[in-house]
Parts: sequence; C-alpha cells; structure tokens
Amino acid sequence: MTGRAAVLTGLGGWLPPVRVTNDDLARRLDTSDEWITTRTGIRQRFVVPPGLSTSGVAVEAGARALASAGTERVDLLVLATSTPDHPCPATAPEVAGRLGLGEIAAFDVAAVCTGFVYALATASSMITAGVADSALVIGADTFSTILDPGDRTTRAIFGDGAGAVVLRAGDRGERGALLGFDLASDGSQAELITVPGGGSEHRSQGLADPGDEFFTMQGRSVFRHAVTRMSESSRRLAKDLDWPLESVDRLVAHQANIRILTAVGADLGLPEEKVVANLDRVGNTVAASIPLALTDGVHDGSLAAGHRVLLCGFGGGLTWGAAALELPHLSVEPLPTHA
Ligand code: COA
Repeated sequence: MTGRAAVLTGLGGWLPPVRVTNDDLARRLDTSDEWITTRTGIRQRFVVPPGLSTSGVAVEAGARALASAGTERVDLLVLATSTPDHPCPATAPEVAGRLGLGEIAAFDVAAVCTGFVYALATASSMITAGVADSALVIGADTFSTILDPGDRTTRAIFGDGAGAVVLRAGDRGERGALLGFDLASDGSQAELITVPGGGSEHRSQGLADPGDEFFTMQGRSVFRHAVTRMSESSRRLAKDLDWPLESVDRLVAHQANIRILTAVGADLGLPEEKVVANLDRVGNTVAASIPLALTDGVHDGSLAAGHRVLLCGFGGGLTWGAAALELPHLSVEPLPTHA
C-alpha cells in the first residue's frame, strides 16, 4: 500500500546522572533487592539531581534523536510528559527553544505511561495530513519529583529519563513508515493511578491534604489492567494490519514490570526473545519507557532493520494503545550508564 506517511529516521535516549540501585533503596526504606528484583525485574533506576527537570532530560534525548536522524531542523515537536516543568505553560516550547529549533509548533501530550504512543500517533497524523513535514517526538518524565519519599512501592518502580524519535514525511511503503495505531481510554478507572492534589479540582474546592501532591497507584489492579489492555490493543492493531501475530518479530511494550511483559508476551503467543526488556537497567520511566527500550534494543542488536515491531503502552487515565512499523536502519548512541 502506498500513500503519504510518517517515517522513523532517528532515535535517541538519555538518563539522568544519579543511579539508585535496589540496595540503595533498601538502605532508606523497608525493602530489599530480593523483593524488588523478583516482584518487578528492576535492579536500578536513574533520577534527576536537584536543578534538573523534565525539560533538561527531554533536551538531551531530543538532541540525540536529531543527531541520529542527521538533521538539525524539524517543524513540529510533541512532548509526552506527565511531569511538566510547570502546570502552565507546556514544556515543549521550552524544549524546542533550547534545541534551537526556532518558532516551530510545540505542545505537550499527557497520557502518563501511554504518552509516547499517543504523541507518536499525534505527530504521525499531523505529518500524514500535511500539517507538518517532520517532527521530533519526545517522551520525558521525572517521576522522582512527584513520588512520596516514604512509599517503598512506587520508589522501587519508577525512574527518570527521556527518549525521542524523529519522523519525516515519506511513503507508507518505505521501511520505517508508521503503519497504524490503536488508542483507547477508560476514565472510570482514573483513581487507580493519580496525583490527587495540585490540580484545578482541588484548588477549586480549597482542599489540600498533606501528601496529596504525591503520585499514588493501586498496584494489583493496575497490573491486571496493564496485561489485558496491552494484549488487547496489540492484537487489535495486528488484526487491522493483517499481521498474523506469529509474523511479529518484536514487541516493545511499556516497561512497567517484567511479570507484566512476560504475561503480555504469553497472551500474544510471542516467545521471550521477541519481547524487548530493559527495565532491569532503567525501571519504569513512564513516557520515556518505549523510546528508551527501542534505543537499548537497537544498540544491543535485539532490534534490527526489517523487524516487524509492535509498540504498546498502558498508563494512567486509564489509557492504552499500540503502534506498528517495520524497523528501518537506525544509528543510535548508547544510553549513558553513569556507573
Ligand atoms: N518492598 C517490599 N515489600 C513491598 C514493596 C517493596 N518495595 N512494595 C510493596 N510491598 C509489599 C506490600 O506492602 C504488600 O505487603 P502486605 O502483604 O504486608 O500488605 C506485599 O508487598 C504485596 O503487595 P502487592 O501490591 O500485592 O504486590 P504485587 O506482587 O502486586 O507487586 C507491584 C506490587 C506494584 C510491583 C505490582 O502490583 C505492579 O507492578 N503493578 C503494576 C505497577 C505499574 O506498572 N504501574 C505503572 C503502570 S503504568
């Protein structure tokens, strides 16, 4: 099939410099490396030092994706984040300015851990519609800034980071073309993942309970929804594209918990080697999770040109979604290790 489409041409990611191992957490909280590793698969995560915020990590990832694409110019920037530098304005224009991209269209998309898939769909659709000819799509979050320092569950899971891709207008028949999306939400389950305070709802009521500014999550329910929804979305998109599931070479799913990835892979009938995982090294980096897994996968060779890839995400809202492409050749810089 031919026709105008958005084509992936660049990829990059960045992690902030403070590495926090499970043992580091166990020194401050009632937890252990053994519990975190066996229940989540996560061994370490990276967090921002004081003074570094979401715009800073987004700029680093954006610069690497632009270099990977061999370009200094795009005419659209979409930033997926749920930890913007400020409630208002959006963080994307700041990032565009610091990347020297000029007076381009720039805005944020907030869909928590599904943010990158939503942002990719938005930029891809704007390119396909002729509104833009190229785009930088960044997923960046600094959840360490909204976690309760005393909450061992969320502190064990989340890490900060940013990942980005560059898209340009091309043809649907080209390798790297974004071939389809599946996006969905269920607002009736909003309370499963929420920061209760700090928004207009609480300000309009004049309520402010101590701790309401912290992120909260009902882990067990979230786990069940994540497996069901990511499987369902991937399956629906594969069917729309007439891709038999056995023809899918790699699944790059939101990196929340290794047990979630294993369950989604099993549900889709994909063997372990087809399910890309890097959460052991970075934790759950929210909107950065999928592009960081792509960056690691391309760098370590588990993702290669020609692979049929399904991307899928799940997060607060609830939101979930999937995207599909055949991977082009990409040259990526490895993620910093900050050992
Ligand atoms: N260290 C030690 N114990 C911990 C712990 C930690 N870091 N975090 C939770 N626990 C404890 C709980 O307090 C609970 O203790 P209790 O039985 O005495 O009450 C026990 O471990 C079991 O808790 P539970 O929540 O049932 O564990 P779980 O196996 O479901 O694992 C999660 C918890 C959070 C790891 C898991 O539910 C999960 O990964 N959920 C999805 C999270 C996610 O992906 N969020 C982002 C979505 S986008």
